[in-house]
Amino acid sequence: MQAEYRQRREQLMAKIGNGTAIFRSAPMAVMHNDVEYVYRQESDFFYLTGFNEPQAVAVLAPHHSEHRFVLFVQPKDREKEVWTGYLCGVDAAKEIYGADAAYPIAELDEKLPQYLEKSDRIFYHLGRDRNFNDQVLQHYQRLLRTYPKRGTGPIAIEDTSTILHSMRLHKSPSELELMRQAAAIATEAHNHALQITAPGRYEYEIQAEIEHIFRLRGAMGPAYPSIVAAGANACVLHYIENNCQMQENDLLLIDAGCAYGYYNSDITRTFPVNGKFTPEQKILYEIVLSAQEKAIAQVQPGNPFSLVHDTAVRVLTEGLVEIGILKGEIDKLIEDEKYKPFYMHRTSHWLGLDVHDVGVYQYGDNSQILQPGQVLTVEPGLYIVPDTKPAEDQPEIDPRWVGIGIRIEDDVLVTPTGHEVLTAGVPKAVKDVER
Ligand code: GLY
Ligand code: MN
Ligand code: MN
Repeated sequence: MQAEYRQRREQLMAKIGNGTAIFRSAPMAVMHNDVEYVYRQESDFFYLTGFNEPQAVAVLAPHHSEHRFVLFVQPKDREKEVWTGYLCGVDAAKEIYGADAAYPIAELDEKLPQYLEKSDRIFYHLGRDRNFNDQVLQHYQRLLRTYPKRGTGPIAIEDTSTILHSMRLHKSPSELELMRQAAAIATEAHNHALQITAPGRYEYEIQAEIEHIFRLRGAMGPAYPSIVAAGANACVLHYIENNCQMQENDLLLIDAGCAYGYYNSDITRTFPVNGKFTPEQKILYEIVLSAQEKAIAQVQPGNPFSLVHDTAVRVLTEGLVEIGILKGEIDKLIEDEKYKPFYMHRTSHWLGLDVHDVGVYQYGDNSQILQPGQVLTVEPGLYIVPDTKPAEDQPEIDPRWVGIGIRIEDDVLVTPTGHEVLTAGVPKAVKDVER
């Protein structure tokens, strides 16, 4: 893997010319008082270094004669390591992570200027860490002030994301291997959930069994808080309480994926708790399934990203008209977004190191064009949220639909000839989710 991290750094450095790029590790996040969350490196930082410790800074200085890749890290500290475990330290930052130079993080202010003085731009993403933003800006200001003395130095700050995130959007074979594994583990978990769900059981029991499989199979854990939503809970898009008892005629919506080797899966299935759809559930389910299948069919290299969403919206709108929830001419209903009370989210997002992965969706009015190596979710749904007031020109909602929430989500890789559904191992046909 180190060779691949190096290759990514080289690719980035080739694009920043005489610039210097600065990356900050993710901070430790506090859960409560002095208890911290499990540490997870910031994705850009990890993508370029594979280095998984907080309090680190990576510098890429392609124009520097000796030190093109520099790491600032926490030094070895025996006492600290007794409490919180192994620290890589300065020497291993060079030996293991291939840094040309490495320093204790405390020396950042002293050592950083030498990597900026001869650069013409600083590449830096103004992130959430305000203190670190200030630190970078202070270096920048000092160098601007002293520019006349040297005749060199950065005269602009540019966001690194444009370059780096278009790299991250295209997954390499080794990234895809990890994504397939994340997909396979979540597939197993969803299939297990389908087997064990029954009226009387609690949502959290299903969550527990899913997450048990995640960890048992070597995943880092859930990719995001698992959603296990029975009945009308499914109409709350990010329902994560998962504390209700499942009733006889409920549907169960499960949106759960795992992180494996830092890469994520993201799967949603909806199925009847007692094994049989009610007629209304089945009608809505088949509309969503059809929308999902037709949207997936549009995942082809050369197609606009937006076509996937537009396809889902059309099928969902047609379905809603057919069953009388919407009334009117399809194109007009779509243009006026009359489907929105029942389908309020987008159909797709990029998937990778982040669940909602980086990468541009839209350049001005133009959609991103799908290309091989991209991975996106396709996740249409319908939610007949209780107490929804229909628009003025729309019919009252027949109570028989109310409280039904359905989403079906797969992870789809764009291939040179079309697509591959990485999560195809979880059934979704009516006959396969009925028991
Ligand atoms: N589970 C998060 C999402 O589907 O986007
Ligand atoms: Mn999801
Ligand atoms: Mn998703």
